[in-house]
Order: sequence, then C-alpha cells, then structure tokens
Amino acid sequence: MSGEALENLSHEDRVFFPSEKFAAQANGKADLYDRAKNDRDGFWNEQAENLQWDTKWSQVLDWSDAPVSKWFVGGKLNVSVNCVDRHVAAGNGSRVAIHFEGERGDTQTITYQNLLDSVSQAANALTELGIKAGDRVAIYMPMIPEAVISMLACARIGAPHSVVFGGFSAESLRSRIEDASASLVITADGGFRKGSAFGLKVAVDEAIEDMPSVKNVLVVKRTEQEVNWNSDRDIWWDEIVSRQSTSHAPQAFDSEHPLFILYTSGTTGKPKGILHTTGGYLTQASYTHRVVFDLKPETDVYWCTADVGWITGHSYVTYGPLANGATQVIYEGTPDTPHKGRWWEIVAKYGVTILYTAPTAIRTFMKWGDEFPQAHDLSTLRLLGSVGEPINPEAWMWYREVIGASNCPIVDTWWQTETGGIMISPLPGVTGTKPGSAMGPIPGISAEILDDAGVAVGHGSGGYLVLTQPWPAMLRGIWGDMERYKETYWSRFKSQYFAGDGAKWDNDGAIWLLGRVDDVMNVSGHRISTTEVESALVSHPTVAEAAVVGANDETTGQGIVAFVILRAGSEDGPGVAQELRAHVAKEIGAIARPRQILIVAELPKTRSGKIMRRLLRDVAENRTLGDVTTLADPTIMNLISDGLNSSSTDDD
Ligand code: WTA
Repeated sequence: MSGEALENLSHEDRVFFPSEKFAAQANGKADLYDRAKNDRDGFWNEQAENLQWDTKWSQVLDWSDAPVSKWFVGGKLNVSVNCVDRHVAAGNGSRVAIHFEGERGDTQTITYQNLLDSVSQAANALTELGIKAGDRVAIYMPMIPEAVISMLACARIGAPHSVVFGGFSAESLRSRIEDASASLVITADGGFRKGSAFGLKVAVDEAIEDMPSVKNVLVVKRTEQEVNWNSDRDIWWDEIVSRQSTSHAPQAFDSEHPLFILYTSGTTGKPKGILHTTGGYLTQASYTHRVVFDLKPETDVYWCTADVGWITGHSYVTYGPLANGATQVIYEGTPDTPHKGRWWEIVAKYGVTILYTAPTAIRTFMKWGDEFPQAHDLSTLRLLGSVGEPINPEAWMWYREVIGASNCPIVDTWWQTETGGIMISPLPGVTGTKPGSAMGPIPGISAEILDDAGVAVGHGSGGYLVLTQPWPAMLRGIWGDMERYKETYWSRFKSQYFAGDGAKWDNDGAIWLLGRVDDVMNVSGHRISTTEVESALVSHPTVAEAAVVGANDETTGQGIVAFVILRAGSEDGPGVAQELRAHVAKEIGAIARPRQILIVAELPKTRSGKIMRRLLRDVAENRTLGDVTTLADPTIMNLISDGLNSSSTDDD
C-alpha cells in the first residue's frame, strides 16, 4: 500500500508488517503461539530450561492454592549466578555488561567479569553486616551501577530487596522500610539530576529516625556532598565493599524463594508491597526480554531508560537483560541535561540498537522538535519499545519515523508491577503492528476482556482487561496482606486476574489499552493513587477536604488536579496553592506534586456522600459537565465553576 493510502486509513486499519529481513533473523517465530497454546506447561518448561538450575523442578505449575501460584516446584537456582557468573563461565567475561553514563559525563565500562567481582564483594559485605537469606534490604539509590550491583548482591544471598525510587520523599521511604521491616538500607550520599546534586542520605536519616529495626545504612559516595554521619550505624560502601574478596560461593534458593518486594500505589492511601519470587520471575523476565526485544547478546546494545525504582528497571534493566548476557547502557540523568539531544547523543555514542522507553518521554521529544534527534546518527537502532501507559498513535508514528527511520519494529508492551514481566505485546518479526495498539498476549499468556457481568466481549467491544491463566512472573501476594491481594485482584471476576485497566478489541482482534478503571492515576507512566495525594493534602493544617483527579495531559498522559476546601479561618491567597503543591511533594515525592490546585468552597457529592470525580474531571479538562442529577446539591457545580475564576492555580 502506498504511503498516501496508508495516511488515509484510521489507526485501527493501519498495519505495519515486519520486514522479511527482520522476520528471518527474529528470535520469536510464529509457531511459538501454537506451541504455547497446545501445551502451556511444556512451553514454560522449555523457557525455564534456558536458565541455569542447581536442582531441576518436579512440576511446572502448582495452582492448587490459587490465587497463589508455585512455578517450577522444587527447583533451585541462584538469580545472580544466572545474571552474572554463567556468562563469565561461558567465556564471556570480557563482554561489556554495562556502559554507564553519568549525567555529568563521567563514564564506566563494566564487563561481566567486573560485575561478577563487584557483586561478589557486595554479597560478602552484606554477609559481614549480618544480612541473611530472608532478611529484607531497602535500596534507595540514584541510577548508578551500584544500584544494580546491590540488587544482584541481595539476590545472591537470598535477601529480598525493596527498591524505593530515589525521587520518593523521606516519608514514603519510611513507610516502605517499615512495612517490609528492612534491617539494612543501601543508599548514596546523593545523585545528579538536571545538573545538580540532590540528597538521598539526608532522606534516609529522616526516614529511619527512631526506627531501631534498621541496623545499618550502607552509603555509596556519588556526589561527595556533606552528609550527617552516625558512626554506629552508617558505613561507606568504599570502606566495607572494596576490601572484600571477589570470590563468593553462591547458594541455590528455592524457585519460590522471595526475590523482591516492590511497592506500588493502589486505590487506598497505603502502597502495596508486590511480592515476586525467584524461578518463575526470572524465567519470564529473560524469555520476554529475548523474544520481545529480539536480543542478540553478541551484537546488540540495549538501552532501557527506566529507573531501577520501578518494575521496568527491575525486569528490563537488571534481571532480564543480565540473565540474557546483554550489553546495556545505563544513564543516570535527565534527557535535557546538559542539552535536549542528550539521549540521541548517547544512542550514537554507544551504537544503541534496542531502545525501550515511555510514551511520556516520546511526547516530550516531539514537543522539543525533530532537530534534536536528527542531529545524531541513530542508524544503529533496529527495534523500539514503549511501556508504562497507552501510547497515542501520533507519538507512535513519530517514534517510528523520526527515531526509527521507519525501519524499526515497535513493541508496545503492556504489563504491570504485579505481572512482573511483559504480557501483551507484538512479537517483532511476527506480529503486524498498529500505531497505538499493544496487539495481543505474547505466547504463553492469556488475556480476555469482560463486561460488567463478567462476560467476554467480542471484537469491536470494550470492557475490563483480565488475565485468564496464571503466569510464571505473577505476583505471589501483597507483603503482609494476603487478604488485600485476593480482594484487589481476584474478587472482581471469578478465577480471573483483574488488572484494573480498561481495554477493547478492535474488529481485527487487536487489543487497545484504555487506561485505568480505578482511582489510580498514571502520570508519566508512574502509578499514583488519588487517595494517597488526598491524604497528603489533608495532612496540611490549612486543608479541610481534598479531592484529586487525573486529568488528560498532553505530555504526561495524566496530570494531577486537586480540588481543595480550606479550613475555616485559612485564607486563600496567592501562595496557598504553591505551598500545598510543595507539601505533597514533601509527603510523597516530586512525581506526585499536583499540576494544579483549585481552591473551592464545596465538593460535588452524591446523597450518600461519595465525591463525584467524574464531574471534577470534567472541570479539570474544561469540558461541559456531565449528568449532575445524582448530586445531593446540584448547584454546587456552579459554585465550583464560579470559584475557579478567583482561585490560585499555577504551573511550574
Ligand atoms: C499502564 C509498568 C497501556 C497500565 C510496567 C498498567 C500501560 C499500569 C502499558 C502498570 C501499555 C503499562 N499500554 N497502558 N503498554 N504499560 N500501562 O505497575 O495502566 O508501573 O496497569 O508497570 O501502567 O504500571 P506499573
């Protein structure tokens, strides 16, 4: 079909088929779908065999205790051995594992042999600090190699890690450390971001004040900024890790041994500690990384731009790529430091072949202009990936044409912290792709779309996305709260995993993700609950009540808009919204800072007292109001609209 004819089609009718050249060399072949369908267990059995196990499993899947699954029952393996040692043993010790690029231009080249030495030293240091298998370790780090090394060292000794994104506040860090009862925190003095140093150790000090369960804080020196020091508790990484032996005898752990906890926002104010285990998680992380990104470890240079503080950084920076012996780029900083072409400069410098990033970044680059990517040689790129939120067709097309020179398959990958690995995505070289659609479940995964009554909808219709069969990397529960696990994911529909996302089938049977159906916002691909932001707001002394909605945002997908009623006696003034925004950033982290705060006199409520967010969203998105007849007091919306004109709002 000619380019012009293609232009005239709606997005749903546009299909980009893989080139013959790509298809011929692709890791994933079309027969994977049938093989997985005909013998699911056999299919996953085969994927698990790509890992190195100390003891073979006796059963692929035990689902008798549903909704808690056991995978590769009785098998034993060590995750860090799979990610590091086995590549060295295979003669690939001199292969680069990590090209590290600091924001200020400092670089490190870390081979698999170097990584083995560092991970062994770190594992020995953790042992010296008394950390044993099963103990929880919190990791609060900038994007530097020590973050990955720490994760692997924890995995090596069987101590589940809980990585907390470095942009989260001391308060968020505190609640996560407390919930997991971590006994060690690994951090850095600080990190570099947007050209300057931000502090991390200072937040750890605040977070663990009066928390005797934390015995030690292990601190990487990164920025050399001033830090407070408690010599009974704090230890410099350089002092303890560097003097350790570079040999460490790893122990194999049960396939179901906890590997990590990662907190994510739910619909209540309390984040959920998503629990992942060993064998199934690593099997799916490495399988998906191999077939979805078509990784060729000998020749590819892979770059996933996610921070290790998120699940994408766990599965597609640390575990998937390293299990597959990949060479990857890790970049510490922001895309516009020191200039808006920084990412493209990095792609050209290292000859990146596979790039995995988020729609919010793509839209930001679109806004900045084509001249930045065009100033660099991006011709090494051969595959592009997207994750974190629905990618709009315009951004997809721009990614394809401007970054990929219309030459790279795009994999739009749908998954979640809970799923551990990619679930819905095209297989490059096999699946024709439509701009904006994640296409379908990958081989080994089954999804459905249900209506309110739990009935599967047909092609051309939408509803709730569910996963109908257990999968190896699925969460094994919520840390310390199995009831919440069952309630959140398994009570909405019988025996099906409720993802919390809306989706539709198009007429050709491709899946289009439609965003969250619960009170979770997606801001720049990060999940933030409306309740969490509301709780932060009402913790401010001037706030009586708050309602938060996610409003469409051209760049970040959704933006946080808060409607706030001030306490009697608290004056609305020019500084109020500003102060409340700063307060939320302090309570949760800068990613949760509302885009806009509207001071209002009333909130729209139903007769039973439930806030009607739908109407607030209409206001936040400047739409005509929907049906107001269920409001206890229908005149309230006028009051809100009138009040808005005099409210303090800002955007910085
Ligand atoms: C959304 C990130 C549409 C979705 C890996 C999901 C997506 C939530 C996509 C999980 C995609 C992620 N298309 N929506 N390709 N990928 N999402 O836990 O709403 O940070 O439920 O995991 O992001 O976010 P999480």
